Amino acid sequence: MELTVDNAALEVVWPDAHRSTFHAVWLRDNCPCPECRHPSGQRLVDTRTLGDVGLSGARADFGRVAVTFDDGHASELSAEWLRAHCYCADELRAESTRRLWDASLVDLPTLSYPEVTGSDEALRRWLAWVDELGFAILTGGPTEPGTVVRVAQLFGYVRETNYGRLFDVRSVVNPSNLAFTGLGLGAHTDNPYRDPTPTLQLLHCLSSSAAGGENTLVDSFRVVQELTPAELELLATYPIRFRYSDGNTDLETEVPVISRAPLAVHYNTRSAQPFRLPPDVMPKYYAAYQRFGRLLDDDRFRVRVKLDPGDLFIVDNLRVLHGRTGYAETGERHLQGCYADRDGLRSKLAVLSR
Ligand code: OGA
Ligand code: ZN
Ligand code: ZN
Repeated sequence: MELTVDNAALEVVWPDAHRSTFHAVWLRDNCPCPECRHPSGQRLVDTRTLGDVGLSGARADFGRVAVTFDDGHASELSAEWLRAHCYCADELRAESTRRLWDASLVDLPTLSYPEVTGSDEALRRWLAWVDELGFAILTGGPTEPGTVVRVAQLFGYVRETNYGRLFDVRSVVNPSNLAFTGLGLGAHTDNPYRDPTPTLQLLHCLSSSAAGGENTLVDSFRVVQELTPAELELLATYPIRFRYSDGNTDLETEVPVISRAPLAVHYNTRSAQPFRLPPDVMPKYYAAYQRFGRLLDDDRFRVRVKLDPGDLFIVDNLRVLHGRTGYAETGERHLQGCYADRDGLRSKLAVLSR
């Protein structure tokens, strides 16, 4: 490994010819010495107390890189750690585990309930799909009420809401939500009126003898790629409001349809409130919003999933939007859903992957 150092940065050429640049302040901030790091791994040196720090020297031997700073501090970092934390443009691009998909995704990420509940390796695979593809399907589970909560508890924590720990989806008289009718539902983000919006949703089928009522899933991040720069700009610039209200709840929040960093999509035509946009923007905004919505429901991008009793799907609610076709009010269709969050899922996935 070859080092070149100047006051501002250390450049490393690795044995495989890969090049990394580490800035002085970044190195000083990440010093692993006992003065700078607590044994818990938390940083003792407070980044804001670091001045205009520069490098005064660097040396490599036996897999370690020793650097000295012009404030007198000296650090020793392992070469392996440095290589793993390289932040060159190529590494940053390669980092994401996300795999975008469209209707050509034929092998839907599916495992059975006995597999996922019976083996850590199967659970790890199932959770990894949610991370990569934004959804996963579980087949052949129990049809007992409450199963959806037990599945969420395999990896994380249920997000309780005004709907309870879980909610029933079936058609009822005087529904408070179009989900509780036999109407079809276009691709949507669930509960965009919450702050923050739940990042995971699970839906479990208890019975489905009614004709229709198939689910559709779409990778909205893939669809975002179809937008023109002008459409993207409009949908990412202007926040819109979403609202839900009933006898004892009044939820409203404001968020753009597309958030850019981290990427997230909030699209729900049922709960969107009247847009308040500058008059010259309104027509252009509608055109972009409608085109995005039509693409989300386009058969080029979505996949269909027929849930049989005992089946369940989980979606990353800010990426993979779900919908359903309409169903006959004669016959029985009963789903239960619950919300959870990605942090718990990713933690479980990381622990299972150790
Ligand atoms: C919902 C929903 C879909 C369905 O309740 O959020 O989208 O298949 N339901 O009934
Ligand atoms: Zn230190
Ligand atoms: Zn929904």
